[in-house]
Amino acid sequence: MNYSLTSSTFDKEEREAMINVIDSDMFTMDKHVEDFEDRFAKYFGRKYAVMVNSGSSANLVAIASLFYRENMPLKMGDEVIVPCISWATTFYPLHQYGLKLKFVDIDLETLNYDVDELKSAVTPNTKLIVAVSILGNPCYFDKITDICEDNNIILFEDNCESMGARFNGKYTGTFGLIGVFSTFYSHHISTMEGGLITTDDYEICCLCKSLRNHGMTRGQGDNSPIYERKQDDFYEAYRFILPGYNVRPTELNGAIGKEQLKKLDNFLEMRRGNAKHFAYLFKDDERFIIQKEVGESSWFSFTMIVKPESGLIRKDVLKKLRESDIDHRIITGSNMLRHDVVKYFNYEVTKSTNADTAHDNGFFVGNHPVDIRDRIDYLYEVLRNV
Ligand SMILES: Cc1ncc(COP(=O)(O)O)c(C=O)c1O
Repeated sequence: MNYSLTSSTFDKEEREAMINVIDSDMFTMDKHVEDFEDRFAKYFGRKYAVMVNSGSSANLVAIASLFYRENMPLKMGDEVIVPCISWATTFYPLHQYGLKLKFVDIDLETLNYDVDELKSAVTPNTKLIVAVSILGNPCYFDKITDICEDNNIILFEDNCESMGARFNGKYTGTFGLIGVFSTFYSHHISTMEGGLITTDDYEICCLCKSLRNHGMTRGQGDNSPIYERKQDDFYEAYRFILPGYNVRPTELNGAIGKEQLKKLDNFLEMRRGNAKHFAYLFKDDERFIIQKEVGESSWFSFTMIVKPESGLIRKDVLKKLRESDIDHRIITGSNMLRHDVVKYFNYEVTKSTNADTAHDNGFFVGNHPVDIRDRIDYLYEVLRNV
């Protein structure tokens, strides 16, 4: 039996949506993207959503927007706190915009920030905290928002792995000033490639719309707070106000997104059903740490960390998984500090013991938005015999 990491969720609705776009002959960003953004914002209870071509681009544009806002913009050299474990493109825009990264260790059970470590990492120079809810599992947002409020720090959520998760009944990705989502193929909904920035702040929304689109004024609408429209339409047509990018999505992405969003509730229910089964089988297995759910996880996948004291060696476990056709990966990017690219960063770290343990002993297997309990049973059988 093959137990894959991910599978396609496209059906006739997505195909029809694509054909409609093809028939319309209008491919570049337009009404479908706008409509998807409105629906996405509404689903998550946010005022605004801005779509771009990936979650990585969403991080880039959203971080850039914080440098161009009117009040208290970020400046080069400001300190940003990040968790040791996340995906590489959580960190790259922070480095590219000249921020100083301060890495904080994770909690081995939740795989998110160790909140006590986070609290003690804050200094008067800390201007931003990037919270990442790893693989569907919400961070402790009550404590993190307290830390931010007490110290006048901006909360930024890279929520690319946790669409649909909730903490105290509120969606992750909606706690911070900005929350970023990915709609890449393997994520909770897919637009092939895609990402969204969500916020309740109109200025941030306008900045992100300009930054995704060559830094132009096009599409700003009449009440944009980020520039003053001049009378001369000739110059207004090509007017550049920010050093931006072209990271626009296409109409295909927008049209597919609308269909996928309709299915999100069901996808989440299926993922949670699988998770219940996974936890039932593995919760008492003393050889592994499985991810401890905080709030309501949206269960991107299932993590397992081989306990060093169990006598098991991860290499042997992975060999068995390979032989049994069970796909697996390190947990997200695991400890970022262990990757070569970190030599380019301006960073500091006090402790990364738990991130190292996850890096050296952890792995994840896939979850899917369909019933995969038979594959989870298979995993259980395979691991029972390691
Ligand atoms: C936490 C996190 N941030 C950002 C990204 C990047 O998203 P994308 O693949 O859409 O660029 C990912 C991708 O999985 C991610 O896990």
